[in-house]
Amino acid sequence: MASLFSVTLDCLLEKDLNEKVRKLSALQQAWTEDQLSLQPTDTIIRIPDPGRPDKPALVPPRQLPKRRLGTRAGHGALMHAIAHIEFNAVNLALDAVYRFQDMPRDYYFEWLGVACEEAYHFQIVREHLNSLGYEYGDFPAHNGLWLTTYETDHDPLVRMAMVPRTLEARGLDVTPGMIHKLRAIGDKRGVEILKILLRDEIGHVAVGTRWFRYLCAQRGLNPFETFQRIVDEYFHGNLAGPFNYEARREAGFSEEEIAWLKQIEAETLNP
Ligand SMILES: [Fe+2]
Repeated sequence: MASLFSVTLDCLLEKDLNEKVRKLSALQQAWTEDQLSLQPTDTIIRIPDPGRPDKPALVPPRQLPKRRLGTRAGHGALMHAIAHIEFNAVNLALDAVYRFQDMPRDYYFEWLGVACEEAYHFQIVREHLNSLGYEYGDFPAHNGLWLTTYETDHDPLVRMAMVPRTLEARGLDVTPGMIHKLRAIGDKRGVEILKILLRDEIGHVAVGTRWFRYLCAQRGLNPFETFQRIVDEYFHGNLAGPFNYEARREAGFSEEEIAWLKQIEAETLNP
């Protein structure tokens, strides 16, 4: 019987877009039909560069094109940035499965589910990008999501705190504003897509929260203090609002964490 971890690694390293989607759905099918074991791999490799197509070119964030939505190129650049996030999100979820090989079965079930939803997101965003006359790879992109994934590959606790609960949670904060902008330029399909993304991302952040709390309990750690400590140590930017409290509550942020974010938001508004 093939091991879930080696099949997942193969999918994670796949560079071709269509082939990756195909491998992922085969993986999901094999998993749901109980054809994969939880046999650990001999080694767990570090992955500085996961499987992705040669394009988009990766550049520092400040070299990204400005997204003036009033122009077709600006509209395309925004959809491209979202496509890039969704593509990366597939790799993030696969890496969470492959790398941490001594978690309960439900952990793999949930992260494989996330990988499949992210692949679906990528496809609907890519189709919409195509309808605007562009393809994934036509604009440059940045590699921040993967860099943090790579930096947190030593510990699932740190990974859950940083990737779903910090970086992906940021998506919950900024998506309503993007929906507003797309509505303003009459992009009905874009609005529809972002609403799907927002709804599903709440679930993905919730998966991160669930396993973050599980690992805290296992190690006898206070989840609130641990989350603060990890964000402090690993987050490169400044945590800044405004935050989407409603979505974050739904994604499992505690009232203590919400109060902390409110304090940060107040400090950013009145430094
Ligand atoms: Fe997504």
